[in-house]
Amino acid sequence: MKPIMIRPGVYWAGVNDRESELFEGLWTIQDCGVSLNSYLIMDEKKVLIDLSSELLTEPYVNMIKSIAPLNEIDYVVLNHLEPDHTGALLYLREANPNITYLGTKKAAEIIGNFYEIKDHFRIVEDGEELKIGKFTLKFAAVPFVHWPETMVTYLVEEKILFPCDAFGGYGALPGVVFDDQCPDLPKFEAETLRYYANIVAAYSGNTRKAIEKLAGIPIEIVAPSHGLIWRKNPERIIELYRQWVDYAEKKREKAVTVVYGTMYGNTAEFAESVQQAVADTGLTVEMFNVRKADIGVILGSVWKNQGVIVCAPTYEGSLFPEMVSFLHMMKVKKVVTRTTAYFGSFGWGSMAKKQFETFAAEQRWDVVENYQFHGKPKQADFDLLPDFAEKFAAAVRAAE
Ligand code: FEO
Repeated sequence: MKPIMIRPGVYWAGVNDRESELFEGLWTIQDCGVSLNSYLIMDEKKVLIDLSSELLTEPYVNMIKSIAPLNEIDYVVLNHLEPDHTGALLYLREANPNITYLGTKKAAEIIGNFYEIKDHFRIVEDGEELKIGKFTLKFAAVPFVHWPETMVTYLVEEKILFPCDAFGGYGALPGVVFDDQCPDLPKFEAETLRYYANIVAAYSGNTRKAIEKLAGIPIEIVAPSHGLIWRKNPERIIELYRQWVDYAEKKREKAVTVVYGTMYGNTAEFAESVQQAVADTGLTVEMFNVRKADIGVILGSVWKNQGVIVCAPTYEGSLFPEMVSFLHMMKVKKVVTRTTAYFGSFGWGSMAKKQFETFAAEQRWDVVENYQFHGKPKQADFDLLPDFAEKFAAAVRAAE
């Protein structure tokens, strides 16, 4: 893509990453890609806001050069130090050693750790303003959205917010950058929810504080460092984020995620029946094989749904290892207060049930059923499901 003018003197100058299979080495983006949005402000001082990954340095630098020579760049605003936004930094520094980097006090520490940079870094304070000609940049610290050093930058005269990871989403840009030009906005919004669940969700409390902090600021354009630029309806992405922040504690969709693992098909067979019984109550059910589905995709489902049903066998005295890994991710991502149930096959040891009980108590998941069956499920096991499903659906519907 070529640079795109957002407002006179303000350019999107980003790149699409369609090559990486995983984001952060964890989350699948092989079907959708991701954009690394950078912005160039052309004023008396020339300012870059966030950069690109190292992998895409060459196309990124060529994009910048098509607007301004690198030796004319005065400032680089580093809202966030994660390498998807800073990987091109060393190349830029070599090309123009006079660039001054702007970031929070914590960013000054992190840039040293990642890039051994100790000079030409200027700490900006929360609320500080920087006049760059006719434009003014204003900085606001928003710690832990996504790392401790994170801040947002606001272009005062144009009312443009550059929030880096916040209000971002997966999805390579489809040749256009604005929400009103997007050919498939529902798809982008779905990928933005998955991004939120994967990247931001564990910091929902901090994200709520950030949204509250920004509430009094007039915003005409939200220009994040991943995904679409919201100019027609900037309130839409802020409202979506507000909704997903709420999912951390309550107000989730009255829907159910079934996650199953299986060794010889016995638990899979039962999980299919569980899904059908719950669907018969009128609730939407999304079902995933924990061994095959990407964990980030499952997380996207679990983040929005109130109900989570876990079906997995016992494996050598433990819950099925892939399921243990999934439940560990639920802890990492602070997935709490779900309505839940466990079902699984076992041969001789039955520790999985106890393991699940312990996990559920730690995560404050409300257990409606915790049930194991010997080997292959029998008719008597299946006969329990209609009553279970009614109880489970009632609990999901009654949840806050
Ligand atoms: Fe897009 Fe936390 O980096």
